[in-house]
Amino acid sequence: MGWIEITGGTPLHGKVRIQGSKNAALPILAGAILHQGRTVIENCPVITDVLWTIRILEELGCVVRFEKNRLEIDSSKVQACRIPGELGSRMRSSVIFLGSLLGRMKKAWIPYPGGCTIGKRPLDLHQEALEALGAVITEEDGFLRAETSGLEGAVIRFGFPSVGATENAILGAVLAKGVTTIFGAAMEPEIWELCRFLNEKGAKITWMKRGEIRIEGVKRLQDSRFVLTADRIVAGTYLFGAIATRGRVFLEDAPGPQMREVLRTARLMGAQAEESKSGLWINAEKAFRSPEFVRTAPYPGFPTDLQSPLLTAASLAKGKTAVQETIFESRFQTASQLRKMGAQIAVEGNRALITGTDCLHGACVEARELRGGAALILAGLAAKGVTQVRNTEYISRGYEDICRDLRCLGAKLKEGFYSDST
Ligand code: EPZ
Repeated sequence: MGWIEITGGTPLHGKVRIQGSKNAALPILAGAILHQGRTVIENCPVITDVLWTIRILEELGCVVRFEKNRLEIDSSKVQACRIPGELGSRMRSSVIFLGSLLGRMKKAWIPYPGGCTIGKRPLDLHQEALEALGAVITEEDGFLRAETSGLEGAVIRFGFPSVGATENAILGAVLAKGVTTIFGAAMEPEIWELCRFLNEKGAKITWMKRGEIRIEGVKRLQDSRFVLTADRIVAGTYLFGAIATRGRVFLEDAPGPQMREVLRTARLMGAQAEESKSGLWINAEKAFRSPEFVRTAPYPGFPTDLQSPLLTAASLAKGKTAVQETIFESRFQTASQLRKMGAQIAVEGNRALITGTDCLHGACVEARELRGGAALILAGLAAKGVTQVRNTEYISRGYEDICRDLRCLGAKLKEGFYSDST
């Protein structure tokens, strides 16, 4: 198990390049198997979720090379349609292979990815969308089995804009016979990125208007090379780190246009945020105001993935902040760990009330999931004294090298591993 030790009290200063987007990369890697040929993906982050997804691609018959953020996938010889339990259950997002395996193999057999610490995360919307396209899905011994004689275009209406279900519907529709129209689709930038990737491979996907996507099925796709956009959640994480430490940073490649609500919240807190062609300037030396009320929501609302980093920054703002989490049922776990460092956070149901304090103090805390773990690192940067964050393998799922990045901003960090016995 991994640990990171942070010596706090130094404002973040400097420039850091933001890695490629995890949540764009994962559905795009799954989409590569729709094509019987080569796909090159540049700026792909070296994170454990990508490495597990590569293992799945190889299990299915792909030949994959991954060097210096450049991923080459040859999916001409895909012949399997079953994702082994030990692989698929490690990562919820393996469910994203349902749509592309049905499109390519007309069959998919994936371990039922259960809930996780942030919520139950059911798959009903995925199932409804793929059944509308002509799949028959059953659950057997902890596996989801999906089969079809051939997917056909359909009208799919989402009652909730699920990101993963929207991605599965798109991946299933690309090679389906006829036209698919999705109403109530998720509008996250990662969905656009997936559509842009697929269209560059020869798919015919158009965005009609808010939440409506039209996909005209095609017979085959073509070789392509795609460059991933920078990760807006990683950029937002370091933005809240600058606010928590009253620092001044440049986030190179940060996709400002995808971060409007996050930047609005940062400005409410007193930070200056300037977008430029090459990234985001953040001056948080005077950022000490509470944003008062933040509600997470589907894009373009405030992203649930930055709710925990916001808790850290708001814990050090003057005044009270109410945060309402509307996406996942239990995404306030990190509050209890932040309280160990002196944060004043009261959680009731899907609401948290934070009372700002002058300072946090170092402590030994445990990451329980990806974004909460990152938020604890931010708290360690701002706290007086030394903080040790344990179970940092959660953080490596989405951050390529959080210590390297934060050292670029002047942070003092040590990292290591301990055996289970300690
Ligand atoms: C994606 O998860 C992201 N993961 C999550 O990021 C992100 O938090 C989430 O979208 C919301 O933006 C990836 O892209 C790999 P959803 P996903 O389907 O697709 C309910 C991170 O930290 N729901 O939009 O699983 C579900 O329970 C991760 O990078 C159903 O009820 O999110 C949840 O409450 C965490 N039935 C809500 O919708 C379904 O069939 C949002 O889920 C599907 C979802």
